Amino acid sequence: MRETWVVGAASNRFGKMQETGREAATRVALEAIRQSGLTPQDIGYTFVSNCFGIAEHQAHVGPLINNGLGIPDTPSVTLESACSSSSAGLHEAIVHVAGGFANAALVVGAEKLSHLDTLTSTSYFAIAADYAFETKNGATFPGLYATLASAYRQAFPTKDEMFGAIAVKNHANAARNPHAHFQKEISLATYLASPMIATPLRLYDCCPFSDGAAALVVAAKEFVKSPATEPLVVRASARSGSVTDMQDRPDLLGLPATRTAASAAFRQAKMEPKDIDFLEVHDCFTIAEVMALEDLGFFPKGTGAKESADGVTARDGKLPVNPSGGLKAKGHPVSATGASQVVEIFEQFNGLAKGREVPKTGTALAHNVGATGGSCSVHIFSRR
Ligand SMILES: CC(C)(COP(=O)(O)OP(=O)(O)OC[C@H]1O[C@@H](n2cnc3c(N)ncnc32)[C@H](O)[C@@H]1OP(=O)(O)O)[C@@H](O)C(=O)NCCC(=O)NCCS
Repeated sequence: MRETWVVGAASNRFGKMQETGREAATRVALEAIRQSGLTPQDIGYTFVSNCFGIAEHQAHVGPLINNGLGIPDTPSVTLESACSSSSAGLHEAIVHVAGGFANAALVVGAEKLSHLDTLTSTSYFAIAADYAFETKNGATFPGLYATLASAYRQAFPTKDEMFGAIAVKNHANAARNPHAHFQKEISLATYLASPMIATPLRLYDCCPFSDGAAALVVAAKEFVKSPATEPLVVRASARSGSVTDMQDRPDLLGLPATRTAASAAFRQAKMEPKDIDFLEVHDCFTIAEVMALEDLGFFPKGTGAKESADGVTARDGKLPVNPSGGLKAKGHPVSATGASQVVEIFEQFNGLAKGREVPKTGTALAHNVGATGGSCSVHIFSRR
């Protein structure tokens, strides 16, 4: 396999987009390609994610993006892996480039739903759960993650303030991120006073519905020769699946897909958690950040919330987690989220994360989950 790099990465500001998903995707893709020093003609394959294109009456968006880039003959495919769609696209791009099927590949994810009301968006999203056992019976993602949070809190008594600390930390990071949906800090008192959405999850435990687009350029080391930016060297690209419906899982104290993808990734990279300088993890709800850190092997089961409350995961802490603001505060435009985590790592490596720099940027890990863990991607990057 060829050594593979991420050589360009771009995102728009998440929140409410005036552009269509297709326009935003094309614009960020062009920005990522320009940044990489390559040209659109160098792209051998485009991997697109756009789970809810139906909300814009547009499917098959890959050829449209390639047309917009001036490369209509370049092949493309649209991948759907729920909230982990663009990290699945990244995995496929890496496989293509490492295997020699393309010298460079584009990964782009975009979502636009802000013209829909909360009820409609919630029911659209819920189809990524198990329709027969969960969705049809009224389950939604806030409800399913509330079930996980309740199980966790029953097994490991955890104070509200510990989950609140995660929301406060992620909002503080997002306040320094020009790509973020919510660029405002919140206090613990604001968290505690916020309304209950699905007990025990409050408003500030939840990610919002966001529009957004993010793009990455993946290329073979031997093709790039002299990169225009500090590339992210791909040390691991692992994916896993797991039982989707929660009733059939052995326990609800974590996500099995995270554990499987993490052990494969650490094996590929020949690394251990202690070798990682900072992380972007899938915190669609605050409980998801806690479970991610435990399932990835950074903290023992039952201790993740306390470590976060103690400041270990703060931007200037021992293990910075979600310096971008995470899904909680940077936002969660489903199909763009996985790529945007890597945009944050790219900006940190390249000194572009002004005002939210983490202390060490030698290695980083990105963790992206589909739904309640039916699928999961873990990527590990290092400097050259
Ligand atoms: C939490 C949630 C129910 C709130 O929806 P809502 O009550 O309809 O809220 P609205 O969209 O009417 O927004 C009301 C206000 O709350 C803010 N807000 C909405 N969601 C927010 C969130 N998650 N965090 C912080 N603020 C939020 C809005 O910006 C708005 O603020 P403003 O009045 O200052 O403009 C909704 O954001 C949600 O379902 N989030 C989870 C999405 C999800 O499940 N994603 C998939 C994960 S797997």
